[in-house]
Amino acid sequence: MTRVLLTGATGYIGSHTAVELVNAGYEVVGVDNFSNSNPKVLEGIEKITGKPIDFMEVDCRDFDAFAKVFEKFPDIEAVIHFAASKAVGESVQKPLMYYDNNIRGLINLTKLMVEKGKGASIVFSSSCTVYGQPTPENLPITEQAPIQPATSPYGRTKQMCEDILTDCVKAYGNLSVTALRYFNPIGAHPSAFIGELPNGVPQNLVPYITQTAAGIRECLTVFGDDYNTPDGSCIRDYIYVVDLAKAHVKAIDRMLSPNDGSRERFEIFNLGTGRGLSVLELVHAFEKATGVKLNYRIGPRREGDTEQVWANPAKANKVLGWSADTPVEEILASAWRWQQTL
Ligand SMILES: NC(=O)c1ccc[n+]([C@@H]2O[C@H](COP(=O)([O-])OP(=O)(O)OC[C@H]3O[C@@H](n4cnc5c(N)ncnc54)[C@H](O)[C@@H]3O)[C@@H](O)[C@H]2O)c1
Repeated sequence: MTRVLLTGATGYIGSHTAVELVNAGYEVVGVDNFSNSNPKVLEGIEKITGKPIDFMEVDCRDFDAFAKVFEKFPDIEAVIHFAASKAVGESVQKPLMYYDNNIRGLINLTKLMVEKGKGASIVFSSSCTVYGQPTPENLPITEQAPIQPATSPYGRTKQMCEDILTDCVKAYGNLSVTALRYFNPIGAHPSAFIGELPNGVPQNLVPYITQTAAGIRECLTVFGDDYNTPDGSCIRDYIYVVDLAKAHVKAIDRMLSPNDGSRERFEIFNLGTGRGLSVLELVHAFEKATGVKLNYRIGPRREGDTEQVWANPAKANKVLGWSADTPVEEILASAWRWQQTL
């Protein structure tokens, strides 16, 4: 069996990907320092797949501790690097923490993969934030759209990590990298055994919606209805986390299959649905999917928000043989079921 290492394995996207990798027949070893997740997630993964995954509590910043993972599991052939700090606002307040965690973790991992891994295939969790607010002619966004100056230290760490990996692929002949630029992951596993666990006040829209519906938050504020969009609210490309997890399996399949010459050693894929949905459309879709009326109000625009971003996922559709087509009502119903278990 092929062994894949997941850093940040108990996080939101990591846990859903662990499930899909196990379902696809991969042997998974997870590491996490639980800075933004908890050990219970491992039970959720086990309940869904029927067997526990190998796991070590490790901080990716600690090189020696991280190296022990490769000593214990010398058969690691590929890694998916999810572990990172991800709150945009917090990164503005604590840039050093973000550079330390996101950059140091990646450097340690790359060193270990190049020197100790049985193979050196890295899938890196990147983000559509690298594109900033694209100009209208660049919408929907392809992988060729220009990278814009980052608007937060978080976004800059994603750009820097991609740059570091680009340089490393040139320098280390055994290294291959796939950067997956995620759009906006939402929803939870249909079993409701795993889902998104926001820390404190949710920064993302869907957990805020479900917490408002559950009465934990009084009211949802829609930041701005005067953007240049059909209903005036911002537009995003919301992708079901399970569809996103399945894209990781496809990326790993591709990296570990014999290269027929068509595969480059550094590849980038946009992972989105290809459909933009406005904040208000999402709110109404939630109401329709769940029958729950949401208490929301229109507030002023929020600083730093981009007006509209959605993906052109044609490359991932064609090259990975993958697409994200779970209907949005189904996705929102999964998020609501998950909220009700919390
Ligand atoms: N969720 C999104 O909207 C989104 C969008 C684009 C990109 N991404 C990226 O995808 C990745 C996963 O995101 P997520 O939403 O699952 O976040 P998450 O916070 O739920 O998961 C990240 C996991 O990494 C762990 N972690 C953080 N620092 C670590 C360290 N030094 N050592 C070990 N473990 C560490 C956390 O405890 C957490 O379990 C991140 O790199 C994030 O930047 C997320």
